[in-house]
Amino acid sequence: MPVTVADAPEMMKALSYSSYGGGAEGLKHVEMLIPKPKRDEILVKVEACSLNPIDWKVQKGFMKPVLPFRFPHVPGTDISGVVVKVGSRVTTFVPGDRVVCCLGRAGGGLAQFAIAPTNTTIKRRQGVSPIEGDALGISAFAALQSVRNSAGIDIKLPNRSDKESKNLLIRAASGEVGTLAVQIAKLGGAHVTATCSPHNFRLLRSLGADEVVEYKAESEKSGAAPERSPSGRKYDMVINCGPHWPFCRYKAELAPSGFVIDLNPSPTGMMTSVVHAITRSKQKYFPFMHIPNSADMYLLCNLLHVKKLRTVIDSTYPLAQAQAGWARCMEGHAVGKIVITFTC
Ligand SMILES: NC(=O)c1ccc[n+]([C@@H]2O[C@H](COP(=O)([O-])OP(=O)(O)OC[C@H]3O[C@@H](n4cnc5c(N)ncnc54)[C@H](OP(=O)(O)O)[C@@H]3O)[C@@H](O)[C@H]2O)c1
Repeated sequence: MPVTVADAPEMMKALSYSSYGGGAEGLKHVEMLIPKPKRDEILVKVEACSLNPIDWKVQKGFMKPVLPFRFPHVPGTDISGVVVKVGSRVTTFVPGDRVVCCLGRAGGGLAQFAIAPTNTTIKRRQGVSPIEGDALGISAFAALQSVRNSAGIDIKLPNRSDKESKNLLIRAASGEVGTLAVQIAKLGGAHVTATCSPHNFRLLRSLGADEVVEYKAESEKSGAAPERSPSGRKYDMVINCGPHWPFCRYKAELAPSGFVIDLNPSPTGMMTSVVHAITRSKQKYFPFMHIPNSADMYLLCNLLHVKKLRTVIDSTYPLAQAQAGWARCMEGHAVGKIVITFTC
């Protein structure tokens, strides 16, 4: 049965925090008024909301004073749900549409109802579940755009021979971004080396990784180079989903024209990329920032629909236990994504 405006009560349950810091315990269950969509917005009854590391980083104050826009703040950016109301200028969605939305910096996903912008909302294809669908946000943009735009791997050109294919290292490949990036890079015919813990080797191989290498906690701290590709090949490119490393640590394992795409850039990293541009260095470092857009959401949703891409679910929690999911996300050991579910 499609959900209608009449089904929407006045008040809704949500999870919010009112100051920086506090971790999972800083999140409080609250009742609040259901927001009203502006002219170009839609109101969505949320079915699932995935958590991203950026959620707890904003709470920690990493983007102070820009984010969050105000307190109290309802976090959560990537949702699946059903449209219940549309703004006066919205023509592309009607109540009852099953959608996936990237809510952007305003957040609001950890609530029974959320306001979504139409330019980063798409109709969910049949056969794509709410939990799969809510993967089509920040981490999916990061995976697709780092592989396709930054690494230059065209996902329409698979089946290259191993000799021709670029050797791509994906650091921290067992997380939400990495599990998608491995699959997308394989769709483009890259040779993928993935670093992860041994208990995730089988998963990464099942996602298509050609070589899997254990990352060692001690080398994280020691300043050592990244783990070598078992085949001995140098890396043409590295997508770093793990903690930031200065560029010099990668150099020894990079091919002569190799480059690093860093999802966790630091100010020094930004400087390094400027220096590389000025000096026309052959090896390069690129800080990465994803760009939300509906075209990529459609592409990713189609890949899910035709089963060329799958989302790996670490764990799901009902809204009542969302703090436990938040704590799991903060630990940094999720295998795939963490999802908060809502009874619909
Ligand atoms: N710039 C952007 O636009 C953008 C967009 C999205 C995400 N990001 C960032 O990208 C990073 C990855 O996001 P995510 O959602 O994939 O994170 P995540 O799900 O929290 O990643 C957790 C996974 O990373 C693994 N891991 C942690 N450190 C590792 C290391 N040094 N080597 C190998 N594996 C390691 C963990 O494995 P173990 O349990 O075995 O330790 C765990 O499986 C986050 O820092 C996020 O903030 C940036």
